[in-house]
Amino acid sequence: MVTVLYYDSTMSDEERRKKLFGGDLFVYSPTPHSLQLVAFAREMAEKALAPHFPPDAQHHMEKQAYVDVLADLKPTFINHPRSKELVGGILADLDIDLTQAYLDVPRLRSMTSEYLNAGLTLQFESHRDTWFSAPFSQINYWIPVYDVAEDNAMAFHPRYFAEGVRNSSRDYNYAQWVQFGRSAAAKQVDMETRKQPEAEQEIEREPDIRVITPPGGILIFSGAQLHTTVPNTSGRTRFSIDFRVVNRKDVEAHSGAANVDSDCTGTNLGDFMRATDLERLPEELIGEYDTAPI
Ligand SMILES: [Fe+2]
Repeated sequence: MVTVLYYDSTMSDEERRKKLFGGDLFVYSPTPHSLQLVAFAREMAEKALAPHFPPDAQHHMEKQAYVDVLADLKPTFINHPRSKELVGGILADLDIDLTQAYLDVPRLRSMTSEYLNAGLTLQFESHRDTWFSAPFSQINYWIPVYDVAEDNAMAFHPRYFAEGVRNSSRDYNYAQWVQFGRSAAAKQVDMETRKQPEAEQEIEREPDIRVITPPGGILIFSGAQLHTTVPNTSGRTRFSIDFRVVNRKDVEAHSGAANVDSDCTGTNLGDFMRATDLERLPEELIGEYDTAPI
């Protein structure tokens, strides 16, 4: 199997999605709107963590105070209308047809360096988003807010794109998670007790692929790609923005990456909003994916 990393490709979006569903990766230099989104996130983070520089703030604050600031900062960024607007702008920068593009709210993530490893700063083990009730046509976008390095970025394990991994996604239902799991996140500082799908076998994590771009660079990958947050040993907190997008035509056609091992129920499709007017997908269409309504 070959994994191609396309850099600043001028390929059409149709072509690009096909390649993504086949396991390829795409990387773009910062675009006007990705830079604006990064600037917006920085402004918010710098204000919230003042007088500290966000990547260094973890060394200067009490644990609980730090967690409290993030617990407030993240939803403020996620729910701000400007964030969604700028995501739409990024998609337009990449020549995506906005009338067909449905996006989930952009999340601001932080990964502290050997400091806190649960709840809001949860360090994800190797996973596919499709273990978490994502459709196989879901495409993920990842953008660093400050400089990243190999020891605080994300790693891909392309071998497993075509090879199944034994995992516990059978126990996961998205609607149940929304109802019971998510609200517990802010309360967990030291211990990660929420039930999340995870691998049930040893994963050969290396060789892996890590993509390092300047802040505002855009990494695009299929939600079926097995990926891991690299344990952060850089001494600095990594801040990044990620969001998911589906194309309505793919959702209607049930196209996307192959399912090699996901066994969860339900769907996250109810979260997606059309880039042009924030309309949701039609109920009937979401219903086609909702394998176990609760
Ligand atoms: Fe993920």
